[in-house]
Amino acid sequence: MGPFDWLPRAPLEPLYLDWLKGVELAVLRLDRIDPLISGNKWFKLTGHLAQAQTASGIISLGGAYSNHLHALAAAGQRLGFPTVGLLRGHPQDTPTVLDLKAFGMQLHWLGYGGYRARHAPDFWLPWREQYPHLHPVPEGGGGMAGALGCAVLLEQARAQLHTLGWADYDGWWLAAGTGTTLAGLALAEAGAHPVYGAMAVPDDHGVAQNIEALVQGGYELLDACRGGFAKIDAVLRDFIEATEQACGLPLEPLYTGKALLALKQQIEAGRFKPGTRLIFIHTGGLQGRRGFTG
Ligand SMILES: Cc1ncc(COP(=O)(O)O)c(C=O)c1O
Repeated sequence: MGPFDWLPRAPLEPLYLDWLKGVELAVLRLDRIDPLISGNKWFKLTGHLAQAQTASGIISLGGAYSNHLHALAAAGQRLGFPTVGLLRGHPQDTPTVLDLKAFGMQLHWLGYGGYRARHAPDFWLPWREQYPHLHPVPEGGGGMAGALGCAVLLEQARAQLHTLGWADYDGWWLAAGTGTTLAGLALAEAGAHPVYGAMAVPDDHGVAQNIEALVQGGYELLDACRGGFAKIDAVLRDFIEATEQACGLPLEPLYTGKALLALKQQIEAGRFKPGTRLIFIHTGGLQGRRGFTG
């Protein structure tokens, strides 16, 4: 399969919000690269696709609202390679799952116990036997291949700095789920600018360990999970609504909403001086919003 020469460009846009207190903020809109293949997922996948030269397609895994499977299935349909999705839990037709089917992804439901076994050494064996021509990609498109696929984000943002009138910037701000995207940026920056990761999951999900395995230093992790992954409260809901009304930026509650709210709190706490220039990465995930709006 591949190589694919489809490398969409994420627009870099200024963000004006009344709580910025002189901090200058731009957003790299990965949610706008394509109507279907959205967010950091495509960039992570490019790293895996580069390793899958001799395969004919991709097999991967995720939940019934997975942004990763959604982007993978859409990419398979768009670029013409077969995809197989191993799903957590029991068959259900969420909006995401209906899309996966419509995109032609072949689905297998693993139950909850079966899905928990995904880190076991022999997990992939039966799937490799059943699908010998497919390249396995870990949950969320993680690992070094996924991180390397995100390095291009740095070039994309730098190439657009002039549109903001910026000669340089002071750091990155983004949501971390596995930490792969953050690791890719920190690798590409090699310490030149700090990368701040707003963790959408609690400490025990191993984000810090994932990142340490990929890169040494150049980043900082902050808790942004608000009591747990996918826990949504009224303050967060109101913030997302107010942001959309104030500047038109759509956010979802699991990653991008929590990450931007955590930045607001840090600015309110005096963490960044006026004049500091930050790039917030909109990592997409808007398709998953349908799970919360019915
Ligand atoms: C919308 C969205 N943003 C951010 C992330 C976090 O990315 P990463 O796993 O690379 O830290 C994810 C997935 O985990 C996601 O779906």
